Amino acid sequence: MRIDIVSIFPEYLKALDLSLLGKAQEVDLIQIHVHDLRDYTFDRHQTVDDTPYGGGAGMVMKAEPWALALEDILDSSESVKPTLIVPTPSGEVFGQPVAHDLAELEHLVFACGRYEGIDERMFDWARERFDVRLMSLGDYVLNGGEVAALAMIEAVGRLVPGVVGNPESLVEESHSEDGLLEYPVYTKPSSWRSYDVPEILLSGDHAKIAAWRREQQEERTRQRRPDLWTKRQDMA
Ligand code: ADE
Repeated sequence: MRIDIVSIFPEYLKALDLSLLGKAQEVDLIQIHVHDLRDYTFDRHQTVDDTPYGGGAGMVMKAEPWALALEDILDSSESVKPTLIVPTPSGEVFGQPVAHDLAELEHLVFACGRYEGIDERMFDWARERFDVRLMSLGDYVLNGGEVAALAMIEAVGRLVPGVVGNPESLVEESHSEDGLLEYPVYTKPSSWRSYDVPEILLSGDHAKIAAWRREQQEERTRQRRPDLWTKRQDMA
């Protein structure tokens, strides 16, 4: 998978060189390229924004630097349109099903906007060249798209085959197909300060352990995420 990211703060994306995604890049499972939007400006101040037509607070990102940066990323040999993901609180909500869909794709491009957003005409231009998806992490506002892109790239990247060493660990986690949250986990020592590991986990009875874990998952989901619990009941 190839991932391109355009941002005015390329340093934000350095975290992608660490840990699992860093390793995935080293072994060439994922190629990540970060581009500085200001490299696509020609004035002395490397201007990427201007005041909004119609008035209002804040600044709007100019369309032209985006088009130049994205044109540089477009590879004419690609048979399918790359997917352009624009992190924005006014997008569709990103979740595990979307992460799975995106993990199947060859080429993702992230356009990390700042300020009040990007000139709408950039999207009209981009839709002719990319499969454009506006994606929100959730109902809160960040200062820009970089942190959202980091989160989405990590969620997608770990689903690319080979990135996570043991694929079974992807099955038993929260937001996997059964729609339940993860069960609680414990490690040594079995007695820590005044707290003990639940007896059943020391019993060696795998069927009972599996049943207990399932109950814990259901209980947690009911308590913490009644929305997920109701959805699950409706689907049954
Ligand atoms: N940019 C600013 N806020 C955001 C959010 N909640 N999700 C995605 N991108 C954003």
